[in-house]
Amino acid sequence: MYHAAVLTVSDRSFAGERPDTAGPLVAQLLEEAGYQVVCTAIVPDVQPQIEAFLKDTADRQVAQLLVTTGGTGFAPRDVTPEATLAVCQRLTPGIPEAMRYASMQVTNRAMLSRAQAGIRGGTLIINLPGSPKAARENLEAVLPALRHGLEMLSGRRADCAKLPG
Ligand code: MTE
Repeated sequence: MYHAAVLTVSDRSFAGERPDTAGPLVAQLLEEAGYQVVCTAIVPDVQPQIEAFLKDTADRQVAQLLVTTGGTGFAPRDVTPEATLAVCQRLTPGIPEAMRYASMQVTNRAMLSRAQAGIRGGTLIINLPGSPKAARENLEAVLPALRHGLEMLSGRRADCAKLPG
């Protein structure tokens, strides 16, 4: 079973001014998909703090999948994509492409998400938007394909042949 971590990026949730609903929802969706959520956290929209969590989780091999929620839009303090780009060694552009493609069927505001995804060491990092609705719609668009990617990343599977889907 793969381990997952969920990071909520939100000034207001970090300050206790608004309950974090997206983080627990993402954790629940991951558990339902068969991941063991081993770590959840909330940080403010501060790039060094986001980067520190991403690096620490990946470098200590806490989780093979790290999902962030929040901070992907155009507001001046939305810096989750920049933090993700700063720590990833390899980008996985197909994941945000698929999320935006699926989300555009729901709302044309999907194009306003600057979400990124990439790999640091053995950890796949994926950004989701911050609203629970958007987080769910984006995650559900990519979740079915992720396990195969993690199998490749961990070396459990060396090729893509004869896979059911
Ligand atoms: N994607 C889906 N599937 N559904 C949505 O409602 N909202 C969009 C977009 N992606 C949305 C979505 C909006 S309005 C914004 S501003 C961006 O995600 C960024 O959200 P964030 O700033 O909360 O990260």
